[in-house]
Amino acid sequence: MSDERQRVALVTGAAGGIGAATARTLAAEGAAVVVHDLRREGRLQELAEELGDTACAVAADLSDAAAADALWHEAVGWRGHIDVLVNNAGIYEAARPDDDLAVWQAAWERTLAICLVSPAALCRAAIASFREQPGGGIIVNLASRAAWRGEDADYWHYAAAKAGVVAMTKTIARQYGRQGVTAFAVAPGFVDTPFNAPAVEEHGMELFVNDTALGEVAQPQDVANVIAFLASGKARHATGATVDVNTASYVR
Ligand SMILES: NC(=O)c1ccc[n+]([C@@H]2O[C@H](COP(=O)([O-])OP(=O)(O)OC[C@H]3O[C@@H](n4cnc5c(N)ncnc54)[C@H](O)[C@@H]3O)[C@@H](O)[C@H]2O)c1
Repeated sequence: MSDERQRVALVTGAAGGIGAATARTLAAEGAAVVVHDLRREGRLQELAEELGDTACAVAADLSDAAAADALWHEAVGWRGHIDVLVNNAGIYEAARPDDDLAVWQAAWERTLAICLVSPAALCRAAIASFREQPGGGIIVNLASRAAWRGEDADYWHYAAAKAGVVAMTKTIARQYGRQGVTAFAVAPGFVDTPFNAPAVEEHGMELFVNDTALGEVAQPQDVANVIAFLASGKARHATGATVDVNTASYVR
């Protein structure tokens, strides 16, 4: 396949566990990949070098929706088009109800900005591009089991942000399908990534293993496989759906 016709994906948070596995999987399946994270140096740059000519590294701070919009345009500029958006970057930072209101509110605003508003800004920019290009485009948004089950006491904001991601994805699927846009959400449970390092440190891995139906926690590749399938174009009529990848720890 020539470069002009090669599918191009943008994967945010690609220096992290699920994002890196997704970028590698999409590249192995023949896509070119714009790999994004907060900083270019370190793991992001190493990933881009590992993937070679089929990858381009772009840094942007997704606590700012304007930076998310600029990221989209920079990503499109690399090969002239993006066909798949994987909204994967995210944070898991506590907002303790016993903290001062200003501290609690700042934590809410930061999580909503990174986990909901910037993904929304990227969807907004992607839809504007996808509706203008032959073949449209595919959006895969990372939600969470927390969207349905709820989350621990210090994480209402994270659960609310991820429920927002699910509602946003359904709306995009319903409103833009005729313009060539399909949209999916993926809702992991516990995945063995740096995201969970503090929780594992505090509680030990055994707690999370015991919560699964398989006696083992999911690895980043288990989620990446599902994302890559949704991104492949083989699941068009599942548009609007959320796929759970939580090892039956929460079956809805
Ligand atoms: N790991 C899990 O158990 C789990 C469970 C449910 C949902 N998820 C979701 O999956 C996605 C990926 O999680 P992961 O486990 O791979 O996490 P991770 O921490 O390994 O990777 C997340 C990446 O997002 C990037 N990021 C964070 N803040 C950013 C910012 N302001 N600007 C740009 N990039 C930023 C980080 O640098 C990091 O590389 C997240 O959306 C997360 O909410 C993860």
